[in-house]
Amino acid sequence: MRTHVVDHPLVAHKLTVLRDEGTDSPTFRRLADELVTLLAYEATRDVRVEPMDIRTPVTTTTGVRLSSPKPLVVPILRAGLGMLDGMTRLLPTAEVGFLGMVRDEGTLLASTYATRLPDDLAGRQCYVLDPMLATGGTLAAAVRLLADRGAGPVTCIALLAAPEGITRMQHELDGITGRDGSPLDVRVVVAALDERLNEQGYIVPGLGDAGDRLYGTV
Ligand code: URA
Repeated sequence: MRTHVVDHPLVAHKLTVLRDEGTDSPTFRRLADELVTLLAYEATRDVRVEPMDIRTPVTTTTGVRLSSPKPLVVPILRAGLGMLDGMTRLLPTAEVGFLGMVRDEGTLLASTYATRLPDDLAGRQCYVLDPMLATGGTLAAAVRLLADRGAGPVTCIALLAAPEGITRMQHELDGITGRDGSPLDVRVVVAALDERLNEQGYIVPGLGDAGDRLYGTV
């Protein structure tokens, strides 16, 4: 698994405002949306394209278009939904699937309560959205579920990650293979890698509960 921390002053600036406990929910939503678009630019560096011929007003030339099947964007409910518009702004023709996953706040274990994905995921390039890569349990389970259905490569996009979560994902996804038996290409793209997790499973310094802050339930 490869981890990419996006190093850009605009990313750092928007993240700083998101972290601020004084940032209200409408501002948080708008900034999270903008930040995801910046992360999506990096995350889609490997999106599959194919050559095509076009005619400009001056001449003919070749360009590229997204290959078929189109990429699949998979927000993890609930908080990943707040990242969907920011992602599809760059990939408007992507298909969207949904995974409902919940973390037990006592055991910190992830379980799946809803799955809405296309039937055929064979070889499908996937972008999984979840703002907080905390313990890594949810994202590791999501990647495994997609891989079990033949999808890949899989890129996870998060606003923040804890080192513990990255380590756990590396461990849990170690040796995971794609449909052709070769190692599955898994990438994590984040705006920052924070210090640690606290006893309640929150990322430190973090930004608090991303879902609550997105949806105003604080
Ligand atoms: N989920 C959140 O919303 N915040 C954290 O810090 C960890 C998990």
